[in-house]
Amino acid sequence: MSESLKQILEEAIRLSTPDEFEVETARRAERILRERLETLGLEFVFVGSYARNTWLKGNLEIDVFILFPKELSKKELEDRIIGIGAKVLDEMELRYAEHPYAHGKVFGVEVDLVPCYKVESAEKIISAVDRTPFHHEWLKERVKGKENDVRLLKKFLKANNIYGAEYKVRGFSGYLCELLIIFYGSFIECLRNAKNWTRKTVIDVKNGRIRTGDCFFVVDPVDERRNVAANLSIDNLAKFVQLSREFLRKPSLEFFVQKRREISVQKLSEALKKRETEIFVVEFERPRIVEDNLYPQLEKASKKLFEVLEKESFLPIRFCFFAKEKCYLVFECAVKELSRIARKMGPPFEDEENVERFLAKEREFKPFLENGRWWAFEIRRHTKPEEAVFDYIKENYQSLGKDVGLKLAEGFRILKGEEVLRTEIVNELGDFLGVRG
Ligand code: CTP
Ligand code: MG
Ligand code: MN
Repeated sequence: MSESLKQILEEAIRLSTPDEFEVETARRAERILRERLETLGLEFVFVGSYARNTWLKGNLEIDVFILFPKELSKKELEDRIIGIGAKVLDEMELRYAEHPYAHGKVFGVEVDLVPCYKVESAEKIISAVDRTPFHHEWLKERVKGKENDVRLLKKFLKANNIYGAEYKVRGFSGYLCELLIIFYGSFIECLRNAKNWTRKTVIDVKNGRIRTGDCFFVVDPVDERRNVAANLSIDNLAKFVQLSREFLRKPSLEFFVQKRREISVQKLSEALKKRETEIFVVEFERPRIVEDNLYPQLEKASKKLFEVLEKESFLPIRFCFFAKEKCYLVFECAVKELSRIARKMGPPFEDEENVERFLAKEREFKPFLENGRWWAFEIRRHTKPEEAVFDYIKENYQSLGKDVGLKLAEGFRILKGEEVLRTEIVNELGDFLGVRG
């Protein structure tokens, strides 16, 4: 390893490693939390990045799983965790993943208290969270001595917005990072190999083997049916491969620093003028549901509206969507406006029956023949892309995701052209349009 690469990694480790104060705060919170849980006579296990000393500086959060007998119902688990959370946590709130868990603070430190079933092996899980204690068991000794490499990888991914398996990100989970470091031995070795990953690469961590399969698959060492990379999108896989190539070609600390893309309204406005496309945004109120449920619905709605634009010949280029204070669906079309008249294909002249029917239709202009086939002039319902989107939402909101559809039915606004500059998504729009910065 070259001297400069070594220096960059050392500096990146410094940026990712919690300082003494953070560690001390964490240890104290852990002690308090343990005492409180023991007083309640509970069976529990510290898991996640805190338990393995692989959390990123400034991102401290303690994950504790409470083990319950299999006989309890999911409802009983929920009731129990509410009671326990209220006793041991400050500012307790119930959060929802696959099932509810308690989130709160101890000594100012964020804590997740997750209820799970105590099962004999990871193949016998009742709910997906029951695997987590097995994940911890598998990792805890193997990750020892490699904590810095795990942190480097997490930091590298986080700085480039692909850390986290939640639907909003669709990137790499913490567990996936730790497995990759164990498999390849170090951060640099991971990147050197990632350069050549494909969409069909299968990484069998437990058996130390790579093979080709149907999709990018990281086999869970505690349950071989489970793909640890299931939530990683193909585009984020591709992004990581590209980042690996670029970093190895020209290493720099920049890869570990979150880019603050502050795009000016001025620059965005210039881009809009230059492109001469139609850019419009559907803005509506945010439904009160968790992001992991909201984002798939936003994607579904955007895809559907994109198809409508395609079908109505507005040549859509791309779409994107965001949930902030409000929700936004963004579309860019190559066509700003179509003529009122379009040509519609009819049957070939030999087909008497269908020609009859085609000609019988009432139309403002007479049909014409072209190369032995009938055509008609048809009046378009929409001449502007945003009109097509407007009517589709009004008439088909039910097909745009359950909660998103209902919110759209309550009301929405379409912002167009320069109006989009007034939204809170100026930075995201800059990214969407590929504005260089
Ligand atoms: N987990 C879960 N259900 C939750 C919260 C967490 O199953 N409601 C599991 C995750 O699958 C993971 C572990 O608990 O195996 C810790 O989750 P998380 O805090 O998201 O990841 P970490 O590995 O701790 O990584 P980070 O450093 O990002 O906290
Ligand atoms: Mg965690
Ligand atoms: Mn957590």
